[in-house]
Amino acid sequence: MFTRNLTLICAISALALPGWAQDASRTSAALPETLEDTGERAPMEVPKSSAAEIPDIAPAKNVFGVGQPATEEQIAAIDIDVMPDGRGLPEGSGTYAEGEELYETICAACHGSDMMGVAELGAPRLIGGRGTLASDAPVKTVESYWPYASTFFDYTHRAMPMTEPGSLSADEVYAISAYVLGKAGITSTEPDSVMDAAAMAEVEMPNADGFVSDPRPDVGEE
Ligand code: HEC
Repeated sequence: MFTRNLTLICAISALALPGWAQDASRTSAALPETLEDTGERAPMEVPKSSAAEIPDIAPAKNVFGVGQPATEEQIAAIDIDVMPDGRGLPEGSGTYAEGEELYETICAACHGSDMMGVAELGAPRLIGGRGTLASDAPVKTVESYWPYASTFFDYTHRAMPMTEPGSLSADEVYAISAYVLGKAGITSTEPDSVMDAAAMAEVEMPNADGFVSDPRPDVGEE
């Protein structure tokens, strides 16, 4: 049985091989310049390349005539990342009282006036849950889980409100940060207390020491 199968496979290969050789030699046939029925220009022949030719077809050697350099304004619009130590925080400031008003108008519909979240909307609660992380029912919130206040700024600035991400100014995000971190019992609840880059870099989050550094060598220190 085994021998018969093997013989059969060899016979098929012998038949197929000349066919493959023919196919390979046909791929360089010239394409017509215009399509007969419509008169439209025929598609260009797909260039064939090998590893050795790659330097010759790399964009540096050919100007494709598409795209344009990004303007400083366009770059600034997406260059908004903020680091854990506060690097990247923009200028601006806002108070707890301003934040309260903004939160009620923009955020409360989804996260609740009490910041306890609205489960049906999938909007998580933002405060509370301290001390629950190592329990059987951990409650992960900005207050209980997030190690850096600057992450709250970065996340809210880039991703919230869910329906209009990127719409908040730096001042508005500072004000909302003052309010949410204040409600979380992390920073002052004085209506006039100000949040800005300097104040934010000073904030110690309750779970700041709750993380271990990643020992994999490729994700180590900066
Ligand atoms: C239209 C509903 C909606 C609005 C309005 C909204 N959010 Fe959210 N928010 C969500 C949803 C849904 C998530 C969960 C997103 C996810 O898990 O990817 C979320 C997640 C978050 C988180 C992350 C929480 C966590 O622990 O992961 C923060 C912080 C947050 N929102 C803050 C805000 C702030 C501040 C505002 C007001 C400026 C706001 N959100 C407005 C729906 C909303």
